[in-house]
Amino acid sequence: MENEQRVSDSREIYSNQQGVHANLERIVLKHLNTEFKKPPAEHTVNAFNELAETIAAKPMPIIMDSCCGTGFSSRMIAEQHPHAWVLGLDRSSKRLGKEDQQPLPNNCLMAQVDCIDFWKLAVNAGWQLEKHYLLYPNPYPKSVQLKTRWHGHPAFVDILRLGGTLEVRSNWKIYIEEFSQALTIAGETTAGCEEFEPQDITSSGNNMPAKGYLTLFERKYHQSGQSLYRCLSSLSLRNAR
Ligand SMILES: C[S@@+](CC[C@H](N)C(=O)[O-])C[C@H]1O[C@@H](n2cnc3c(N)ncnc32)[C@H](O)[C@@H]1O
Repeated sequence: MENEQRVSDSREIYSNQQGVHANLERIVLKHLNTEFKKPPAEHTVNAFNELAETIAAKPMPIIMDSCCGTGFSSRMIAEQHPHAWVLGLDRSSKRLGKEDQQPLPNNCLMAQVDCIDFWKLAVNAGWQLEKHYLLYPNPYPKSVQLKTRWHGHPAFVDILRLGGTLEVRSNWKIYIEEFSQALTIAGETTAGCEEFEPQDITSSGNNMPAKGYLTLFERKYHQSGQSLYRCLSSLSLRNAR
């Protein structure tokens, strides 16, 4: 009952921005032409080394589910891609702690990390992803918050370098329109901002979002009547060695 209440309570994103931010191109170009240097947090370095060791012991393609929240999506993606390692990454131990208590699929690795640092470490290690999911990132909808959205952040360049098929989903159309424009500014091809209906996905684990939803946020937004948007792009090979 309580859960149902929360589902129906979900409100559409309110923003003082009416369309794509006027400074988007300037900011993306600045980041493309500036080296982003930030010393990584120790806990993320340790987690990266641990995951890298596991992957090196059994090399398979890598799929990232960045900012995975509770990691429900990581489990489902791992079940759908048994040939690959699926890394569920989130900075919040509280969110990750709500993860399903069932054993993880053998190809799914979860880690509490700051993705900004993790992406940089992966780039420096020469990783090239098969796929990269960014599902319902925090929208930061105020106009002044453009630089905290992933496409307005210096880490956007590392997302590009990691390559693979990138899929970004949001319930805020402007976020996806901006992300898609940022990709175009960076010279990538993209299908643009698409409205979509969640696919019919079934997972074997318990406590999963209802059939058809990849994440709990996706379920909440969709069941409260909001539209869902995504941007798909096959990123060019930038990190090849
Ligand atoms: C709105 S939630 C979406 C979670 C999940 N993808 C979903 O759809 O249910 C955004 C998530 O991004 C995570 N996050 C934000 N910034 C992060 C960062 N720099 N590194 C890792 N996780 C981050 C938050 O902890 C939060 O779990």
